[in-house]
Amino acid sequence: MADNTNIAPVRKAVIPAAGLGTRFLPFSKAVPKEMLPVVDRPVIQYVIEEAVDAGITDVLIITSRHKKVMEDHFDRFPELEAALEAKNKTEALAEILDVTEMCNLHFIRQGEALGLGHAIGMAEHHVGNEPFCVLLGDDIMHRSAGVLKGMIDTYHANGGVSVVGLMEVAKEDISSYGCADAVELEGRTVEVRDLVEKPDPADAPSNLAIMGRYLFTPGIFDEIRRTEPGVGGEIQITDAMVSLMASERMLGWTFSEGRFDTGKKIDYLRCVVEMALEREDVGPAFREILADIVKREQLLP
Ligand code: G1P
Repeated sequence: MADNTNIAPVRKAVIPAAGLGTRFLPFSKAVPKEMLPVVDRPVIQYVIEEAVDAGITDVLIITSRHKKVMEDHFDRFPELEAALEAKNKTEALAEILDVTEMCNLHFIRQGEALGLGHAIGMAEHHVGNEPFCVLLGDDIMHRSAGVLKGMIDTYHANGGVSVVGLMEVAKEDISSYGCADAVELEGRTVEVRDLVEKPDPADAPSNLAIMGRYLFTPGIFDEIRRTEPGVGGEIQITDAMVSLMASERMLGWTFSEGRFDTGKKIDYLRCVVEMALEREDVGPAFREILADIVKREQLLP
């Protein structure tokens, strides 16, 4: 049994959101894909809410040129606040103020697109010598899946080790992901033995894919610094994780549902429908609209 008395708390999260968003053109030409609306809030707001729900109090977003609108979304807007107050729109006012108060929010820019590992490495100075989470900025995890919370619990239950979120995918899809060679421990926890970034399905050690949620000990920063460009000529976080495993354990936390890859058009649409159905305000009316469409399109036998 691990001695859990001196394990550092996980307070900080890093959200890499510097990518070009080439899978979502033409929309993502002028507006970052992290700003796609899901009902009435941008994808990145859901990601931050997930972090805050799991106990994170400090979030660093790695951004890039042409993405300033993300910073504006989380900033105060005195003229708008005054206008809402004057019109007595108290609910809307409370909502936009809540967005600015979710956590301590920081931004840093990645000047060159050198890869996910490089983007995470840019957080070193801010994170310092602490464990931290990484949440990819275009993946929404449904609250009911409890992914980040489950990973943080696993970190604590196992003496403060690194943990990566893993989900089984169809074998032919594994080439889009980092892939884990892992053995089952207990419950949802697995021991990661090896990782390969975007393997050919024929060579993949499993169909367990890395799903955009990581919890790292600060040792990852040394490994990122030593990591050479890998797949696609980019500095891959998966390669840095393999190096870290030479000196530290890495666990996996497996889950099977609740992930929306909003960077993919089809998954974005599924996400909007699911999230809209759950909303108290628009949910009931939207359900009726959907039922009409299902009938009209004869989608059910
Ligand atoms: C990145 C990671 C990959 C991971 C994936 C999850 O790839 O490199 O290991 O499985 O995110 O979405 P990307 O989607 O940026 O190509």
